Formats: sequence, structure tokens, C-alpha cells
Amino acid sequence: MKAAVLYSADSVPVYADFADPQPSEGTEVVGFVAAGIHHVTRSVAAGRHYSRGAEFPLIPGLNAVARTAAGDLVFTSSGPPPYGTFAERIVSPDAMRFPLPGGARPEAVAAGVNPGMASWLPMRARLADAGSLRTVLILGVTGMSGYLAGQNARLLGATRVVGAGRNEAGLARAAAVGVEPVSLSGDRETDASAIASALGEDTPAIVLDFVWGHVAEAAFAALASPGMSRDDTDTRYAQIGALGGAHAAVPSALLRSRKITIAGSGAGSVAQAEIARQLPAYLELIADGSVDVPFRTFPLSDVGAAWAASADSGPRVVLVRD
Ligand SMILES: NC(=O)c1ccc[n+]([C@@H]2O[C@H](COP(=O)([O-])OP(=O)(O)OC[C@H]3O[C@@H](n4cnc5c(N)ncnc54)[C@H](OP(=O)(O)O)[C@@H]3O)[C@@H](O)[C@H]2O)c1
Repeated sequence: MKAAVLYSADSVPVYADFADPQPSEGTEVVGFVAAGIHHVTRSVAAGRHYSRGAEFPLIPGLNAVARTAAGDLVFTSSGPPPYGTFAERIVSPDAMRFPLPGGARPEAVAAGVNPGMASWLPMRARLADAGSLRTVLILGVTGMSGYLAGQNARLLGATRVVGAGRNEAGLARAAAVGVEPVSLSGDRETDASAIASALGEDTPAIVLDFVWGHVAEAAFAALASPGMSRDDTDTRYAQIGALGGAHAAVPSALLRSRKITIAGSGAGSVAQAEIARQLPAYLELIADGSVDVPFRTFPLSDVGAAWAASADSGPRVVLVRD
């Protein structure tokens, strides 16, 4: 079969021949329709992701929209390496294959599930134990995950959504879906004041952090500010991405001065069973247009150009059938 093949870390995938995958128990081989190139796809392929090492050659791609032998469109995760989803034939595990709702655009689903579920899962969990999201703070609202997080927060009934980012076009896009934008300067003290002043006396019930690094440190300072300590809302701080740096210093005073729990959300810290439980509802939201998912498409055979385009944070790059 034809596939996007990566021969070494930090190279670009090449459209080439690769041995057909063989179905094994608990899997079905399905046909490629569309697959997004997400940050996690790139870092797993380069052997930089915490979830697994990489042995080459491999086919990248962690999920896709595919067509079964019976002709049904499904969303599926990938099978065991080296078989990722950027290939004419995909090994689809039975436990992670979901029918696409009628009317769903395969490209939007391929683009939206990874960045959308990044916030949907921690917000659903928070809603389950707090009963309401009240105020949501998003760090990195300018990216795809942040933009979808703003929409998800509104859909889940947040009364206020405050979103911080450094990119003015991304802030304007978030504002158009009901997010109160906070412009980040890169200076920690200035950014802490900007976040604190946007929140006012509303302590967020959940923080969705796609950036970490100095932006997280600015948020920690804002959350520890005196105005906040008058509010006894319990804050869940969800660490989701780290584009701003792998480390952030947590001030001890923050942990003592307010009820706050800092925990990661991602592969490994969210149970597969929970993802499987929540995914069908999220597919419906993409299918019926409740969530706007920007994407740009490239044919699978043009994977080199698609891979290069996916390095910037524009609309999500989606590979489609030639
Ligand atoms: N754990 C999970 O389940 C999960 C799921 C999805 C995504 N993620 C992670 O979440 C992160 C964001 O993903 P995405 O899909 O939103 O990516 P994206 O669409 O490429 O957007 C990234 C955004 O982050 C901004 N950014 C980067 N460095 C920044 C900094 N130092 N300060 C402020 N903003 C900064 C970028 O701003 P500019 O445009 O100005 O560069 C861009 O708007 C990635 O690390 C990704 O791996 C995690």
C-alpha cells in the first residue's frame, strides 16, 4: 500500500510503498479518509513524546477518519507501531473505533478531535465534581486547542471564559466565540497583572494550560494575588501542553493560600475508557456544527508539504485521500 513513511526522527515523511498491515484479534483493517497532523503526532514521530519511543521506519498518525469494509465512516485511533494512520490501510482497534454521526465532515472530525478533547475531558471531569464551571481561564487560547476550549467552555455552561495569548489574530478569533481576551506580552509580571485584572474577583473553577513555562508562572502569580484569596472557589489547574517551556516554578504560597489542584491531562493521565465514553458526544458537536473547527487539507501523497505546513499554528492540517 501507499503510506506516509518516516525513516528517521526529525526528517519529513515520504509518500512511499509500505507492507500492508495484517488484521489481528480485536482489530479491523479500514481505509484511509482523513487524518490531522497534531502536535502529538509530530512529537511521537520524532521520538520526543513521553508516551512512547519511536523505531524507524514508521507510519505517523495517531487517529483518523476511515471507511470500514462495510462502507461505514468511523473515527479510529491507530494500531500498534509501526502502523500509524497516514496510510491507505489502517489497523483500527475495536475498542477505539466510533461511528461518525450523519452529516459529519470527515476533515473537521480529523482536525478537531485531538485539540477539542484536550479541554473537553478535563472540563467534563470538573463539571462532574463541581456541578458548574463558573469561570474558565484558558492559557494559549490563540491555538487550535485554545480556540476549541473557548467554544467547549461555553457549550458546557461556563459563565465567563477568560483566554490569554500573545497572537492578536488568535485573540480576536477567540473573542468572536465569547472569550474575554487577555494579551500576553512575554513579561511575567505584566502578564500576571493582565490575567489578574481580567479575572477580577472571579476565581476560575478550572484553568486549561496549553503553554506552561513563563505563562503558567504568570498565571500562578495572578491566582495567588490578594483579590483571589477572598474567593474560596476550588481551582483545578489542568496542565495540557508545554509550548512555552517544559518547566514552570510553582510558588509555595500559591499552594498554601488557596484551594488548588495542579494535574496533567493527556495520554496516560486520562483513562482510555473515559476517552471512549466522552468521544461520541464530542463527535456529535463537531458533526452538527456546534463547534467550529478550522482546517486546511493536503492530499496524502503531498505529506511532505503538509508536514511542513503543520509546523505553524494555523488551521489544523488534515491529510485527505488523493
Ligand atoms: N494533553 C493533551 O491531551 C493535548 C491535546 C491537544 C493538544 N495538546 C498540546 O497543547 C498545546 C497547544 O496545542 P494546539 O493544538 O493549540 O497548537 P497550535 O494550534 O499550534 O497553537 C499553539 C498556540 O500556542 C501559542 N504559543 C506558543 N508558545 C507560546 C508562548 N510562549 N506564549 C504564549 N503563547 C504561545 C501559539 O502562539 P503563536 O501563534 O503566537 O506562536 C499558538 O497560538 C501543544 O503543546 C499540544 O501538544 C495537548
